[in-house]
Amino acid sequence: MLSSQIEKQLNNQIESEAASSQYYLAMASYAEVQGYNGVANFMYKHSDEERQHMLKLVKFVNERGGHAIVPALKQPPATFKDIPTMFQNLLDHEIAITQKINELVSTTLAEKDYSTHNFLQWYVSEQLEEEALARTIMDKLKLIGNDNGGLYMFDRDIAGFKVTSANDDLG
Ligand code: FEO
Repeated sequence: MLSSQIEKQLNNQIESEAASSQYYLAMASYAEVQGYNGVANFMYKHSDEERQHMLKLVKFVNERGGHAIVPALKQPPATFKDIPTMFQNLLDHEIAITQKINELVSTTLAEKDYSTHNFLQWYVSEQLEEEALARTIMDKLKLIGNDNGGLYMFDRDIAGFKVTSANDDLG
C-alpha cells in the first residue's frame, strides 16, 4: 500500500510527465510549421515517450492500491524563439524533471518504501539518458549556431538520434 505522501508525489509526477508530453507536442507542431520535419518527428516521438512515462506511473499507482488522478494541464507555449532555443528549453525541462524524480526517490527512502524505490530506478536511468541526449544535441547546435545550412543538415541528421533506450520494459 502506498503512503498518502508517496501517492501524492507519484500523482504530481504523473502531472509532470503529462505536461512534458504536451510541451514536446507543442515543440513538434512548432518545428513542423517551420519546415523542420526531422526535428518535428523527433519531438512527436519524444512526446509519445512522455505519455508512456505517465502511463507507467498511472498503472503503478493503481496496482499499489492508490488512485492515479488524470491532471488538468496548462497550455504549453505555441512558439519558440528558434530551434536551438527550443532544444535548450527541452534540456532545462529534463533537468527539472530529474530533480523531481530525485525528490521522489528521496521520499521513498525516508519512508522505507523499497518497492516504489525499486520502481523509480527505471526513471532514474531514463533521466540520465534523456539528459545525455539533450546535451549531445545542444553541443551540436552550439557548433551550428543559427546558420540555416547547418540547421538544414541537423534536421536531416536528427532522424539518427534515438529518443530513449530504456523503453523496452514498459509494460
Ligand atoms: Fe519523462 Fe523526459 O522525462
